[in-house]
Amino acid sequence: MRDTLTITTRFAEEVCEGLTKPGQKELPSKYLYDALGSRLFDAITELPEYGLTRAEDRILERHAREIAARVPQSIAIAELGSGSGTKTRRILSALYRPHHTRYFPIEISATALAACEREVRDISAVSVVGIEREYLDGLLEVAARRQAYEHLLVLFLGSTIGNFEPAAALVFLKKIRSMLEPGDFLLLGTDLLKPVPVLLDAYDDPLGVTAAFNLNLLARINRELGGNFVLSQFEHEARFNEEARSIEMHLRSRQAQTVSIDAAEITIRFDAGETIWTESSHKYGLPEISRMATESEFECPAQWIDEEWLFAENLWMAG
Ligand code: AVI
Repeated sequence: MRDTLTITTRFAEEVCEGLTKPGQKELPSKYLYDALGSRLFDAITELPEYGLTRAEDRILERHAREIAARVPQSIAIAELGSGSGTKTRRILSALYRPHHTRYFPIEISATALAACEREVRDISAVSVVGIEREYLDGLLEVAARRQAYEHLLVLFLGSTIGNFEPAAALVFLKKIRSMLEPGDFLLLGTDLLKPVPVLLDAYDDPLGVTAAFNLNLLARINRELGGNFVLSQFEHEARFNEEARSIEMHLRSRQAQTVSIDAAEITIRFDAGETIWTESSHKYGLPEISRMATESEFECPAQWIDEEWLFAENLWMAG
């Protein structure tokens, strides 16, 4: 169990850094996922307007056996951000192996890890070892625990890579590659570019679930850091950044106001209409995915595309 005081201090530091930045104020999107935020995200995945999760689920349902057939027999599976583990269940169930398969979900949330362990523990010939760490620290630990005969399959699903800035995404992929041996695999989910109105509906749904997910970040700052944000004074906004090919989520101040946050020792002024940028979700083109693979020194032996929503599942091999 990690030290709660250190986690809160880091949260306060990053909030202070983001809200006192000259120009555009921002908050790191990883803080959207506390217990309530994670539940709201699960609700988003059920929305008719948000097709991403269903698209990946269709791909995994249709092609899990093929994916399993393309990776070596003796394999340990590490998943970056397993969530509740429902998608992974498909892959793990398809991986019938004469050998035992070790599955290492990597999560910073102990609650999510426990849910994931419950979801997959009845699958035969699979043992689950939860790792409560940041993605790359966790992967380093899995790499250190691998047996000499075992290959590694890293799962990074749900287009979470799209929530990184493109340059940071590449650095991240290169770091993953540096922890792998030739012949290891990465299964990477990437949401593809689609018409802007479809994207705007997906990130600003009429029920207001995405708005609640976004506003919960301010509520979390109030709960955990002694902030005094008045939630009704902020509104959710989704916009498409053409140049970056990303959907951005913002929280717009409805009026000029000041907010203080005790644990961060700050008082922040907002102009009327000013926004806090809380998340970017990059939408990929197929050539861009190939380029990312090459630049991070992976080969791409297979790719599956869901035509209904335009989502690509990419199987990359460390060359
Ligand atoms: C987790 N991630 C891939 C989601 C996305 O689509 O970028 C997060 C999300 N934000 C708003 N809706 C969903």
